[in-house]
This record gives sequence, C-alpha cells and structure tokens, in this order.
Amino acid sequence: MTLAPSLTQKPLQDTHGRTIKYLRISVTDRCDLRCRYCMSEQMTFLPRAKLLSLEEIAIIAERFIARGVTKIRLSGGEPLVRRDVAELVQRLGHNIGSGLEELTMTTNGTRLAQHAEAMVDAGIRRVNVSMDSRDPERFRYITRHGDVAQVIGGIYAARDAGLAIKINMVALKGFNEDEIAPMLAWCRDEGFDLSLIETMPLGAIDEDRTDRFLPLTKVFDELGQQFTLARDAHKTGGPARYWNVDGTRTRLGLISPLTANFCEGCNRVRLTTEGKLYMCLGHDDQVDLKAALREGGTAGLDEAIDAGLFAKPKAHDFRIGQGEGPAVARHMSVTGG
Ligand code: 5AD
Ligand code: SF4
Repeated sequence: MTLAPSLTQKPLQDTHGRTIKYLRISVTDRCDLRCRYCMSEQMTFLPRAKLLSLEEIAIIAERFIARGVTKIRLSGGEPLVRRDVAELVQRLGHNIGSGLEELTMTTNGTRLAQHAEAMVDAGIRRVNVSMDSRDPERFRYITRHGDVAQVIGGIYAARDAGLAIKINMVALKGFNEDEIAPMLAWCRDEGFDLSLIETMPLGAIDEDRTDRFLPLTKVFDELGQQFTLARDAHKTGGPARYWNVDGTRTRLGLISPLTANFCEGCNRVRLTTEGKLYMCLGHDDQVDLKAALREGGTAGLDEAIDAGLFAKPKAHDFRIGQGEGPAVARHMSVTGG
C-alpha cells in the first residue's frame, strides 16, 4: 500500500462548529467478562477475518493524528485480550510528542498486571479500569464469572508501574447503590479518580435496563452529604462533569447521558475493530474506513473521514423507559466506551 501525501490536510471540523481532537478505538469486540448491562451471555463476535489488522489500525490512527487528533483511547471489548495489543500500544506510543498528546486505555483490569509495565514504557500515563463492585460475590454476579481480586491486583500493579487510575463504575439500581460512597472513599484514599456511569441503551442484553437505571442526580445529592464536593472545571469535551473530592486530588466524574446533555462540546469520533468510523455513540451513521483505506490508500481514507465528519449528528437521542428498546443495536463493546 502506498502512503502518498494527502491532498486534504484540513483539520477535522464538523458542520456544527466542533473540532475533533479525540479518537477512540475499539481494538476488539471480544471480552473475557460478560457484564450484564453490557453483553448478553451468548454473544456473537466478529470473525477474525473482518478485523482491521494492527497495521491498518496504526495507519488510520496516524492519519487522524496528522489531521489534528491529540488524544487516543484504546478500548473494546477488552483491549488487552487482543493478542497483538502490546505491539499496537508501542507503535501508537511513538506518536506521543509529535502530534499525539495522550494515549490512554479503558480496560476491565483482568490482564492489567501482565501489561502495565509495557504500557508505561510505551508512554501511557493513565488508564480507566471498569469495576462496578469490590465485593467478590457481586462482582462475579454482574460480570457473570469475573474475579474481582484479579482486577484489584491489576489496579495495584498498574499504580505501582506508575499509571494514574480512574475507576469506571456503572451505577445500577438495586445492585451497587450502597457501594458508591464506599467506592468513592476507597478511591480518595488510594489516590484514584472515580467516574460513575448511567446505563446506556446500547445493544440487546438479557434483561431490561430500565429496571437497573439509576439517575446520577440522586446519587450525587447523597454523596454531597458525606463528601465535600467542589465543582472542578476539568473539561474533556465528553459527557462527564467533574467534582473535586474532600480537597484531595481525587476527582469524581458523573457520566449521565440520560439526565444531562453534553453533545454540544463533543470532540470525539469512534473507530470500530471492523474499521467503521462512528460519529456518535447513539447513532447508526458510519463510514467504512477499512474499505476506503484498502481501496484508496491515504487519499481514500481522508475522503471517507471528511464524509463522516460532514454527517456527524448534532446530538444523541438516548431514552430509557418501559418499552424502549436499545437506541442502537450495537453493543458498547463494538463501538468502544
Ligand atoms: N451503559 C453504560 N455503560 C456501559 N459500559 C458498557 N456497556 C455499557 C452500557 N450499556 C461501561 C463499561 C466501561 C465503560 C467503557 O462503559 O463498564 O466501564
Ligand atoms: Fe467486558 Fe467491559 Fe462489557 Fe464488562 S463492560 S463485558 S468488561 S466490555
């Protein structure tokens, strides 16, 4: 494949006045866990032949960097179950300092202990680890078979390797409501950040998400009685709003796409493991970057990216309620969180 210098070097601007600086890449739709709000027990994953190769992911990512993306997050599925992920991390890490400002990862932590040092060596400084409960029984229940000790071990290994940690916790009514305050106290004491996430209607699962939906406004009011929470101006262009906790460096993030709309400042797009570029987590519009790259090289890629940006919708359209199916058929693990 020839990498001719591109004809279009325009910055990544959409038609709603937003500049895209942030690319999230789902490097695999597979996962070694089966969180109930995320996946059904029996999942059909993409056949390996359909996936982007490591080289293709790198070429696409580097194209985005050349066009102004400064932050890349690797996610999944579980990114660390992809066999060549360490190589990809290393390759993308070479761009840090020349265009790319930050490379991060969202992981479920089960394999973090094995990977943490190589991640730091490649230039990763922060990771998000998903953990909805620290109780072994509950964790096993919500993930359908996971071992929380392994995840906590991974978190400590990552910290010891020098990574800053943010815990992602999906707030689920009747499941982990009573663990939110203790989780925040733990994060504060350990020097971790905590993001609380509302369940989003993405993909079919085996239960009704409405039953588990817990609005974060309510959670926040209760936390405010136990912790000193000061609004933190930190902005990522994403759905989270942040609070500083008890005067420490710990930050509490609330990701509430259903109770707070954040689309106005959206600065991100998402690449799936199959090479599709989704402009919005909540819409089906996509462009096929794999085909564009295979057929047209970098110029084809640029054209497809431009077409995608042109179609980036103004806002998502999530609703949760009795009788509402998923907003989109694909699971979070396809598009990346
Ligand atoms: N709604 C909300 N959060 C979800 N996650 C996965 N699926 C969903 C969903 N349907 C979470 C994971 C992970 C983050 C990237 O998204 O727990 O922490
Ligand atoms: Fe895997 Fe994350 Fe989905 Fe859980 S939420 S099944 S860890 S991808």
